[in-house]
Amino acid sequence: MLNARISGLASYLPDDILDNEMLSKMVDTNDEWITTRVGIKERHILHMPGKGSSYLGIKAVEKLFKEYNVNPDDIELLICATSNPDYRFPSTGSIICEGAGLKNAYSYDMEAACAGFIVALQEARAYICSGIYKKVVIVCAEKMSSMVNYQDRSTCPLFGDGAAAVLVEPTEEQGVGIIDGVFHVDGIGREHLLMKAGGSAYPACQETLDAGEHLLFQDGRAVYKHAVTNMLTSSLDIMKRNNLTADDVAYLIPHQANLRIIEAVADRAKFPMEKVLVNIEHTGNTSAASIPICLDEYKSKLKKGDKLVLTAFGAGFTWGAMYLVWDL
Ligand SMILES: CC(C)(COP(=O)(O)OP(=O)(O)OC[C@H]1O[C@@H](n2cnc3c(N)ncnc32)[C@H](O)[C@@H]1OP(=O)(O)O)[C@@H](O)C(=O)NCCC(=O)NCCS
Repeated sequence: MLNARISGLASYLPDDILDNEMLSKMVDTNDEWITTRVGIKERHILHMPGKGSSYLGIKAVEKLFKEYNVNPDDIELLICATSNPDYRFPSTGSIICEGAGLKNAYSYDMEAACAGFIVALQEARAYICSGIYKKVVIVCAEKMSSMVNYQDRSTCPLFGDGAAAVLVEPTEEQGVGIIDGVFHVDGIGREHLLMKAGGSAYPACQETLDAGEHLLFQDGRAVYKHAVTNMLTSSLDIMKRNNLTADDVAYLIPHQANLRIIEAVADRAKFPMEKVLVNIEHTGNTSAASIPICLDEYKSKLKKGDKLVLTAFGAGFTWGAMYLVWDL
């Protein structure tokens, strides 16, 4: 039986930094509020007119290929997880394939908001385990700054831009790689977290533009509560059905949305913070890209055989958890 494993991992953050000091000159906020409520000090922002998420994605894919000596011609499928596509169509994946020189791959975009990475990983796993493909790239590319309302102090400190690319390949070794995943969706999330206009329900018009409805709206308190409860229960579910306790798991890697959410989930799941991978302080919430950027940052710390639990929560609401045995 084939298993799917992560066989390469790279990430890219744009150079420009927007720190709390700079933000406090744009809206009525301050470093102390942002640090204590959210745990973010700075976020990276792509300031290149005409460049969208694909620019970030291409950079991450190019780094992946270079670092792991991958021939782009060998890639059969590229799955692009993004909530910030360059255009409504064509797909951002098709633009990334062209930009990163993937000549033999087919590609599509998928939208699962901040849960995009784990959902894409489940898809890649299904393709690999069924034998349909042998080399799949997942690229999570999010130019969040394109949808953030920089006049709304309750949301603009939270988000940053970034991308990560992951190679998924088969292994015949048993008990390693991507072992299990649990996923959920609940449409009640729409009222709490959405971009109201610009889609087919409310196409762009002067009125929607004037109302700022092409930007991200969030009811932070409601999202916070659902995020804690659902990342916690899905992490506990995946551990229970794989007979794992927190002691067995080397690291919990949660979606990086808010340090307080991460700490609440870790505490209730009985993970000491030294077993929780966190990089939100210098990235902000990069949506689908947050988990793979964090994994990439800590990859030198991870050992073959380490048991990892990944958990994410985002718009929809869409959430879940995955169990991996590291094999890189
Ligand atoms: C957004 C979030 C940080 C707000 O934190 P909170 O503790 O819930 O804060 P509240 O919204 O209750 O606001 C508390 C006060 O701070 C104020 N405030 C909000 N943003 C502020 C800012 N950037 N700076 C200073 N004060 C701010 C509010 O106006 C409010 O003031 P009031 O009490 O006088 O009305 C928090 O709700 C959150 O992280 N939610 C989840 C977000 C998330 O993870 N989203 C992505 C999921 S994928």
